[in-house]
Amino acid sequence: MKTINVVNGPANAAAIILGCMRMPALDVEAAEKMIHTAVELGVNFFDNATCYSRGVAEERFGEAFDRSGIRREDIIIQTKCGLCFERNEFDWTKENILESTDDSLRRMKTDYLDVLLLHRPDLIFDPEEVAEAFDVLERSGKVRFFGVSNVPAMQMELLKKYVKQPLVFNQLQFSLEQSQLIDQALFLNNKKSDMSLDRDNGTLDYCRLNDITVQAWSPLQSGFFDGCFIDDPDYPELNKALEEIGEKYGVSKSAVAIAWILRHPAKMQAIVGTMNPVHLKEICDAAKFDLTHNEWYHLYLASGKTLP
Ligand SMILES: NC(=O)c1ccc[n+]([C@@H]2O[C@H](COP(=O)([O-])OP(=O)(O)OC[C@H]3O[C@@H](n4cnc5c(N)ncnc54)[C@H](OP(=O)(O)O)[C@@H]3O)[C@@H](O)[C@H]2O)c1
Repeated sequence: MKTINVVNGPANAAAIILGCMRMPALDVEAAEKMIHTAVELGVNFFDNATCYSRGVAEERFGEAFDRSGIRREDIIIQTKCGLCFERNEFDWTKENILESTDDSLRRMKTDYLDVLLLHRPDLIFDPEEVAEAFDVLERSGKVRFFGVSNVPAMQMELLKKYVKQPLVFNQLQFSLEQSQLIDQALFLNNKKSDMSLDRDNGTLDYCRLNDITVQAWSPLQSGFFDGCFIDDPDYPELNKALEEIGEKYGVSKSAVAIAWILRHPAKMQAIVGTMNPVHLKEICDAAKFDLTHNEWYHLYLASGKTLP
């Protein structure tokens, strides 16, 4: 498996992360098999969140990992906090960050998190409180590295004014179908195209400038969670292009779609959410080849985008 040089972060981080949001659909035996398959493929990085099925995703991962016999130090466990759907609020208060980290540790049956991310902005967050919480978590050894998810550039700057620890990751939605992170620059200042709208405050370039590794979530989904675009008849051109390029490299369409993300020079990680070991094996072929410059553009245009 290809690894990513995460500046100020965990060593030996796989380019492909297994997201555990959909793990509650598996029983413990199947979840254990999924974790074993991942580790055998070199996917040593597991993403979770307190809100996934209200803690059940963390719990299922914890039970399955506990039975797996895999050494704790051989994998990287990441979770996210702050989305409190049960209370109808997003909460980055010190109290919530500390409490939810303890809950995550208990559910995942581990003494420490390799990575804790703040999941989505709390509209009334106080960066000084976040800084206090991170200090407590770092000092106690409960969390090794910190980062954010779905957080725009200027809010990262605001956090950085107070938080002492480097913000190592920003987890953002990015895929062939949801490529807004990169589209806008093509149509800069063009009043006839919606593509010119700045939807993210230059967050990708900010991350690159500040050595923050981007983790691309839902890399095979269309829309927010509308379904997988692989083999979806609504995306005929994209599937044709994925298939043709897949044939050239002897890999699946899903591997080509993930290779498209890994080919970006920001050196992002892709967080895949399959709970099917065969699908995960197919996807991991993405780390074995690099798309050419022209193939990358061919896929981008086949996904429905145009050049000005
Ligand atoms: N930070 C955030 O706000 C945020 C938001 C959403 C997700 N995430 C993270 O991102 C992870 C991945 O999200 P996701 O599950 O939406 O990602 P995804 O990899 O884009 O989608 C996975 C889904 O596509 C299906 N699928 C259908 N055909 C497939 C194929 N050929 N290969 C692979 N999958 C196929 C999978 O079903 P099978 O299981 O049957 O393969 C699964 O239901 C989550 O687990 C979570 O960790 C983060």
